[in-house]
Amino acid sequence: MSRAVPPEIAEILISEQEIQDKIAVMAKAIDEDYCGKEILLVGVLKGAVMVMADLARALETPVSMEFMAVSSYGSSTSSSGVVRILKDLDREISDRHVLVVEDVIDSGLTLNWLLRNMRSRGPASVEVCALLRKPEAAKVDVPVKYVGFDIASEFVVGYGLDYAERYRDLPFVGRLKPEVYAG
Ligand code: IMP
Ligand code: MG
Repeated sequence: MSRAVPPEIAEILISEQEIQDKIAVMAKAIDEDYCGKEILLVGVLKGAVMVMADLARALETPVSMEFMAVSSYGSSTSSSGVVRILKDLDREISDRHVLVVEDVIDSGLTLNWLLRNMRSRGPASVEVCALLRKPEAAKVDVPVKYVGFDIASEFVVGYGLDYAERYRDLPFVGRLKPEVYAG
């Protein structure tokens, strides 16, 4: 039985079933590409936790998981590309096959910084898997090998994505009613 949709949600954009189906498709593609190898999934806290958990369980390829927390300087709705590490990886990633897992790529600035940071640590390879990508992301040339859904440039919540730390727990991706932001 699925949970009630909170009244603050105006519309469900991507349903729980659509997300799960897409993760299965991405996992299959990743399994084919990494056949015979091991993957180090690097999740970016906190947004990526849901994708991390579901993707890791959908993959046949053996994985280990690391998390990083970063904060970009700038306002809450636009990122500047200047990034501060709040929590670094616990281990070295040299000679590992790193797959960075992201919830959404918006401007792409955070990811751009993160990829340079990862590559400087001497991994065997670095690729990116993101559930959502917004058109702005195309402006910076960040190579995202696995993308779930390309969505319009609008603010969404759910499945790891928050507004003021709320709604991360929703199993779908949706749009909030405008009065939520006004309040
Ligand atoms: P950017 O790609 O550097 O602009 O930053 C992407 C980050 O901004 C994501 O990891 C989210 O934390 C946040 N973000 C971007 N778009 C949304 C959204 O629609 N809802 C919630 N958070 C978002
Ligand atoms: Mg994020």
